[in-house]
Amino acid sequence: MPREIRITPSILNADRENLSSEISRIAIDSDFIHLDVMDNIFVPNFTFDFDSAKSIIQSSPVPIDSHLMVADADEVAIAYAQAGSASVTFHVEAVRDIRMTARGIRAAGARASLALKPASAIGDFEEYLNEIDMVLIMTVEPGFGGQAFMEDMLPKVRETRKIIGDRPIWLQVDGGISLETIERAADAGADTFVAGSAVFRADDPAAMIRELRASIH
Ligand code: DX5
Ligand code: ZN
Repeated sequence: MPREIRITPSILNADRENLSSEISRIAIDSDFIHLDVMDNIFVPNFTFDFDSAKSIIQSSPVPIDSHLMVADADEVAIAYAQAGSASVTFHVEAVRDIRMTARGIRAAGARASLALKPASAIGDFEEYLNEIDMVLIMTVEPGFGGQAFMEDMLPKVRETRKIIGDRPIWLQVDGGISLETIERAADAGADTFVAGSAVFRADDPAAMIRELRASIH
């Protein structure tokens, strides 16, 4: 059976002044909206504070996956779940207690997702797989949109797919996903694709999402 595919556009490079219209024009074609939250500590860039993120989450017609690139994320992650995120993605490098954080997110009714920066190995986190709903393998160093896809992350995607085995865990890639790279990521085992600049730099963002989806069917 072919794997179920999800496209989750990142609004990092969308027009921030007109976010609600940016989201509505891609709503029908998007499985989730990927909301990049950066604190200028975990990564050298800042996007939204909690209150602005919360208003995006609560007004979005599409479920939000909040990708938290913030330091000391344990309590913050749970707060993003309570704020209405459909999914909360937190970094293994940014929390003290992965298990408690994942359980708190799930208890608040959201999907819990574990993100790994390029230098982090999946083998170190296998014991948490029963606590989570998605693994995110970063295919760029987090912090900025529009970077080149790191081909050398493909073996990690492959290894993660293998370790996931029969568990109903989604495998997401984030960074540099485009018509050029999406197939290789899919072949390696990814089923959930973040795409920022590929979508929002396209003349027709919704059509680009459809093309990305079609290219891996
Ligand atoms: C990078 C962010 C990504 C980024 C993706 O730190 O986590 O979600 O916005 O943008 P593109 O698709 O342009 O690499
Ligand atoms: Zn992201």
